[in-house]
Amino acid sequence: MSYTNILVTTKNNIAQVTIARPKKLNALNRDTLQELHEAFTDLETNTEVQVIILTGSGEKAFVAGADISEFADFSEEEGGQLAAEGQELVFNLVENLSKPVIAAVNGFALGGGLELAMACHFRVASDNARMGLPEVSLGVIPGYGGTQRLPQLIGKGRALELIMTAGMIDADKALSYGLVNHVVSQEDLLGFCEQLAGKISNNSPVAISYAIKAVNAGFKNSNGYAAEISAFGACFGTADFEEGTTAFLEKRKANFPGK
Ligand code: COA
Repeated sequence: MSYTNILVTTKNNIAQVTIARPKKLNALNRDTLQELHEAFTDLETNTEVQVIILTGSGEKAFVAGADISEFADFSEEEGGQLAAEGQELVFNLVENLSKPVIAAVNGFALGGGLELAMACHFRVASDNARMGLPEVSLGVIPGYGGTQRLPQLIGKGRALELIMTAGMIDADKALSYGLVNHVVSQEDLLGFCEQLAGKISNNSPVAISYAIKAVNAGFKNSNGYAAEISAFGACFGTADFEEGTTAFLEKRKANFPGK
């Protein structure tokens, strides 16, 4: 299958999915999310593929977030829909895939980018990677599972600090938080992930798929995601959101009316 915004290659039972919008730092627009949905759905049933590595093109970014230019003028309802559709189409699909998905975080993983990396089964970062959930600086909250998966991975206090400050952490801090499992040089990143994928592919794919199911089951006893969707949608009705996204697109500092 051929795509416009992503690249899918396969070698030795390992597929590599590369998000390929380097000029926009691989920001997730609607078309990219749709293509990711199609690619992961296809890989799930592709008998030649046992492990998937997800990365971003270029040396600068894994994914710098959802594409802000696409949702800056959305209404509350559209905001809610954006989160609901995205979670269903891509983030939950990746998390619940029966095959292991490793995120190779090769640079900025911000907002939807970090959320996508967190939906993967585990993460390896290059030493130049920087991660964060900067949504509140735009007057919105993480809407692709970030308010749920970040606390699961690094604990509530650290997650809330990162979300509230809209700050970024570097690869070593992410390693110390347990957000990524390994940090390697950018040059070695894909090779390192391929080695890990090779080790995984020696094991039973069926058992691995059951292990994924069992681990995920432990995190499903709340309606936190639904709460996130509704709070995310509500942000779209606020003046802070209008100011935050407008300021970004006009390349100036936001002056939030809600201050
Ligand atoms: N949505 C849309 N476009 C984005 C984007 C995003 N999330 N992130 C980066 N881009 C675009 C920029 O608008 C710019 O496009 P242009 O060249 O047409 O103006 C291009 O990608 C390069 O980004 P730029 O900001 O010039 O690079 P930088 O090195 O100065 O800064 C970042 C890098 C990651 C710090 C900065 O791009 C940024 O803050 N991005 C937004 C991060 C964010 O808030 N993500 C959460 C969204 S919910």
